[in-house]
Amino acid sequence: MRFAGKVAIVTGAASGIGAATALRLAAEGAGVILADIQDGRGEAVADEIRAAGGTAFYCHCDVSVLAEWHALAARAVRQFGRIDIEQQEEQARQIVARRLGWPEEVATAVCFLASSDASYITGTNLVVDGGWSMWKE
Ligand SMILES: NC(=O)c1ccc[n+]([C@@H]2O[C@H](COP(=O)([O-])OP(=O)(O)OC[C@H]3O[C@@H](n4cnc5c(N)ncnc54)[C@H](O)[C@@H]3O)[C@@H](O)[C@H]2O)c1
Repeated sequence: MRFAGKVAIVTGAASGIGAATALRLAAEGAGVILADIQDGRGEAVADEIRAAGGTAFYCHCDVSVLAEWHALAARAVRQFGRIDIEQQEEQARQIVARRLGWPEEVATAVCFLASSDASYITGTNLVVDGGWSMWKE
C-alpha cells in the first residue's frame, strides 16, 4: 500500500489514463478525488473504487476554468484535510513497436513518480510514449 494515508487529485478521471490512474492510486491506498467534466462517467469510476473498498469521490471540474480548480482544491481539503498528489492528463502515448500504450502503462508511471520510491526525483518529466517522441521531427 504505497499510498496509504495519502490524498490524490486526478483530473480527466472519467476515462482512459485518468481513470486508470485513479483506480490504481486507490487500489494502493490513496483517497482519490476524481475530477472531470463527464459527471456520469466520473461518478461511475468513483463508485467502482468504493465498491472495491477504496475511498473516492467525484467532483465536477473543468480544468480550463480557474475558479473550478479553486473549488476542487477547497472541496478536497474540506473532505480529506490535505492534498498530497496531483495528476493531470497531458501525456501522449504511442509506441514505435507498432502498438498504442495502455492507460494502465501510464498509470504505473504516475504512481511511481507520486510514491516514496521516487523520493529523490524532482523537476523531471518522465516520457511514457514507447519511444514515439524519438521519431518525431
Ligand atoms: N489513449 C491514447 O492512446 C492516446 C494517444 C495519444 C494521445 N493521448 C492523449 O492523452 C490524453 C489522455 O488520453 P486518454 O486516452 O486518457 O483520453 P480520454 O478521452 O479517455 O480521457 C480524457 C478525459 O479528460 C476529460 N476532460 C476533457 N476536457 C476536460 C476539461 N476541460 N476538464 C476536465 N476534464 C476534461 C474527458 O472528459 C475525459 O474523461 C489526451 O490528451 C489524449 O489526446 C492519448
